[in-house]
Amino acid sequence: MNDITLYEVGPRDGLQNETTIVATAIKAELINKLSETGLKKIEATSFVSPKWVPQMADNKELMASIKRPSAVTFSALTPNLKGMEAAVEAGLQEVAIFGAASQTFSRKNINCSIEESLDKFKPVLELAKAHNIAVRGYVSCVSHCPYEGKINPAIVATVSEQMLAMGCYSISLGDTTGEATPKDIINMLSAVSALIPMEQLALHCHDTYGQGLANILTALDMGIRTIDSAVAGLGGCPYAKGASGNVATEDVLYMLNGLGLKTGVDLQKIIDTSWFISKALGRNPNSKVAIAKK
Ligand code: HMG
Ligand code: MG
Repeated sequence: MNDITLYEVGPRDGLQNETTIVATAIKAELINKLSETGLKKIEATSFVSPKWVPQMADNKELMASIKRPSAVTFSALTPNLKGMEAAVEAGLQEVAIFGAASQTFSRKNINCSIEESLDKFKPVLELAKAHNIAVRGYVSCVSHCPYEGKINPAIVATVSEQMLAMGCYSISLGDTTGEATPKDIINMLSAVSALIPMEQLALHCHDTYGQGLANILTALDMGIRTIDSAVAGLGGCPYAKGASGNVATEDVLYMLNGLGLKTGVDLQKIIDTSWFISKALGRNPNSKVAIAKK
């Protein structure tokens, strides 16, 4: 039994921010390599508008071309019914709806208010239920918003509770801009965990200000057991200007190994995968551990 679930978001959150289109074969090789590391959860792609995020336009072809080992659950973003229908066709076992605790970010990211977004998520959850597909809920801007600044933890808690009540099995709390420090995480998690058990929460840190590991350690101390990360520290959000990649999977894993927390994930295989995708993108990994262990 593992102590911590590492939820790999590199192929989606990581690659969505690449301006040059990455070949589907490279994405598939990345996912196949990740599938062999011991990871149990991999977010592979998004079923969003190709006009909004062109990098994810090959979602169908990608899902058809990857290996699907039974030990791994593959997930994808589905903002509305159209996306959910495509995800069902592509055989996803899990999907994610993505809301926000900031009205402006919600409008910039999915073109509607927070309230409207919850309405658009309802048919997604209904179709998911009919097909026995698990739904994860993201809440973005849990600490800061690129447009509105500091966000009130009470709003994060309310939106998270609403998404859970709609049928999400878990809520991933996104520090979209990577501006949070451990004190922000304590305040935010205290508010959210007053309404939702820690086992149903995940932390999703972007590492823009180098606070990712400190924030994760703080959340682990408070009882969080699911951590989102991206191999090679890939990524960012196209609608959060300046936000850098997610905290690197290999950096999180190195810390968890040192803490004696079991994940079932092989560090060397993650490092090898980190170098594979970084070389394919023509740069070094955005990770301390991959560089140190080259
Ligand atoms: P909209 O323009 O309001 O949608 O966009 P619409 O329903 O009016 O449709 C407009 C056009 O898009 C139509 O096509 C639809 O068919 C098409 P047209 O008639 O113009 O040719 N369309 C779609 N096509 C494919 N798949 C779909 C789909 N839906 C509509 N699912 C929409 C609304 C949500 C679609 C749009 O805003 C969108 O795609 N946004 C995605 C933004 C995104 O992917 N952002 C990054 C992911 S979130 C993130 O990174 C944060 C996270 O990591 C956590 C954190 O770090 O905080 C999760
Ligand atoms: Mg993100």
